[in-house]
Amino acid sequence: MCHIANSDTLSYLNKAKNNFYDIKLKKLLLQTRMSKATNKYSRITTRTLTEMKAKGEKIAMLTAYDYTMAGIIDKAGIDVILVGDSVSNVVAGHETTLPITLDQMIYHASSVVRGVKRALIIVDLPFGTYQADSKEALRSAIRIMKEAGAHAVKLEGGSQIQDSIERIIQAGIPVMGHLGLTPQSIYKFGTYNVRAKEDSEAEQLIIDAQMLEKVGCFGIVLEKIPAKLAKKVAHMVNIPIIGIGAGAQVDGQVLVLNDILGMNKEFSPRFLRRYLNLDDEITKAIKSYANDVKKQDFPNNKEQY
Ligand code: KIV
Repeated sequence: MCHIANSDTLSYLNKAKNNFYDIKLKKLLLQTRMSKATNKYSRITTRTLTEMKAKGEKIAMLTAYDYTMAGIIDKAGIDVILVGDSVSNVVAGHETTLPITLDQMIYHASSVVRGVKRALIIVDLPFGTYQADSKEALRSAIRIMKEAGAHAVKLEGGSQIQDSIERIIQAGIPVMGHLGLTPQSIYKFGTYNVRAKEDSEAEQLIIDAQMLEKVGCFGIVLEKIPAKLAKKVAHMVNIPIIGIGAGAQVDGQVLVLNDILGMNKEFSPRFLRRYLNLDDEITKAIKSYANDVKKQDFPNNKEQY
């Protein structure tokens, strides 16, 4: 009897011990899960963006074209970095985005990738690398992913490039669409004015946005269209809508880095908010440096070996 009682006691004690470890393990797992939750979005993915839209959390997106600025932007907490073909205007000094090449985009994108730890990096497919046929489009997208290490590509246009978009997505490459003002079509539009003000163009834009969602795009940029239309599109589709000059009722905003830093005084569209006047600041700094050199104030004794 006593022996039986002892074995019962032993098994009870063992169970209790296991239970104790169970509780400890559960606690530990909970803590790990909690620390992951507080360190939310350690790496932004296309899935994170979908979740952000579902939760009503706005997405902040900016362009970047080089390693140093990309690193600063990333550490500042921007969710998405776009290596935009606007690099053609703001870095290379071309009048339009058309001249930038795939090799040049890959060069800029790979520099950005090396500077970023957290943000999702999307790269524009440049003009002429995806419009001719879907095979060429896929080849271009593969080069961006493989040679630059990008996470996704962006293409301008709707139904006219549906084949290309579908083929790229089928290969496992995430695609972001771009509708409204599409700067690669500037010679067709003739101006950079607001698009889709007319009913027929607005209706086509809605059809295109729905198509982009249906074929599997993870998001769409809407550029320079009426805010009311952008709001309608953002409500119609489940994928995130990122606006530039498309009002506040969308899922996120994108702007060109050089523009928000005030590096180009001549470019002042209504949708742009400047957070710095870097043109003035840089000019001041460079003038001071040149002055110091000329009056032999630089370098001083402490600034030499
Ligand atoms: O190229 C670019 O910078 C862009 C954004 C303006 C959306 O496409």
